[in-house]
Amino acid sequence: MNTRITELFAIDHPIVLSGMSWISTPELVAAVAEAGGLGILATGVLDAEQTRAAVHRTRELTQRPFAANVTLYFPGNRANAEVLIDEQVPVINYSLGKGDWIAEAVHAYGGKVVATVTTIKHALAAERDGADALIVTGHEAAGHGGEVTSLVLVPTITDAVSIPVIAAGGFADGRGLAAALALGAGGVAMGTRFMNTVESPVHDDAKHVSVERSISDTVYTNRVDGLPGRYVKATGSRRIMNMRLNPLSALMRSREIAKLLGLPWLKLAAGIVLSGYRRSVQMARMAIGFDAFKKGCVEGDVERGVLPLGQCTGLMNDTPTVAEVMSRIVTEAEDALERVGNG
Ligand SMILES: Cc1cc2nc3c(=O)[nH]c(=O)nc-3n(C[C@H](O)[C@H](O)[C@H](O)COP(=O)(O)O)c2cc1C
Repeated sequence: MNTRITELFAIDHPIVLSGMSWISTPELVAAVAEAGGLGILATGVLDAEQTRAAVHRTRELTQRPFAANVTLYFPGNRANAEVLIDEQVPVINYSLGKGDWIAEAVHAYGGKVVATVTTIKHALAAERDGADALIVTGHEAAGHGGEVTSLVLVPTITDAVSIPVIAAGGFADGRGLAAALALGAGGVAMGTRFMNTVESPVHDDAKHVSVERSISDTVYTNRVDGLPGRYVKATGSRRIMNMRLNPLSALMRSREIAKLLGLPWLKLAAGIVLSGYRRSVQMARMAIGFDAFKKGCVEGDVERGVLPLGQCTGLMNDTPTVAEVMSRIVTEAEDALERVGNG
């Protein structure tokens, strides 16, 4: 299947593994690359040294092109971006920040840059800043998807920009890929589907959750880590959403927040006192969310932790290998396109 995305990244299939912390590891990235897609290595919870080791490990496992992500909103991720540039990673995916300096450095060694966006304003800014492609994440997505559904957001953005678009949020099978292509995208990125594969390192309980839950079993809220996002409805997510946070709770958690943000504790504690109510509550949520995601993703514990989960969880009823997912999706998409073409 040839699209602008397969051509841009020199891959066989227009299917991308989203960058998910603790999940999109070198092993899963390599499995997707070997099956002909593009895997995005997640660096969100890694420091610079760990990021370099993960890039080396990915290169040991595959000779094929791969990507790595940086969430610019998280302090410390600038250092990770610098490592990825230094390592000349073929594709860098950035989100939640301004990536003009990344594009300039990556283009200098012949690499490509993909920006993840959820609004038309950010899509236009990323194109201006030199991105070669966009991942456009709609409301259906696990984690931090947009306010607007993929069905509406993807064609709106493909109309507005001239660079190719990868649709994310709600895509788990070949009908979804065919639909994304019809909407003007050049491919899909998937988180929930790849999280539930044999090679995915998440706990088996998390895979069971994604098999068992239906399309109505997720919630979209900003009361988990302070940013709007989608999670499985369960005791863990309900507990965090109901937590009342105030600057005092931020202060009490300041040691763990400081560690997460890579800042000296005293500086952070002073910052909390001076930064005002809203910002300090958001910092507390970020620290709590980080801890909860780790329990949800690594331990599969949705009673004490929180598992990001997309609405497409309702489209899944098994745990296949990455290669099976890829070949199934390509065959289904070709069938769907032929069916539509034949009327
Ligand atoms: C279990 C899980 C963990 C995720 N963790 C992250 C993360 O750490 N960083 C991030 O940017 N997105 C994360 N996401 C969101 C994905 O990157 C992607 O945007 C989303 O899954 C796409 O929508 P879909 O789930 O409908 O395929 C996660 C998704 C899942 C399912």
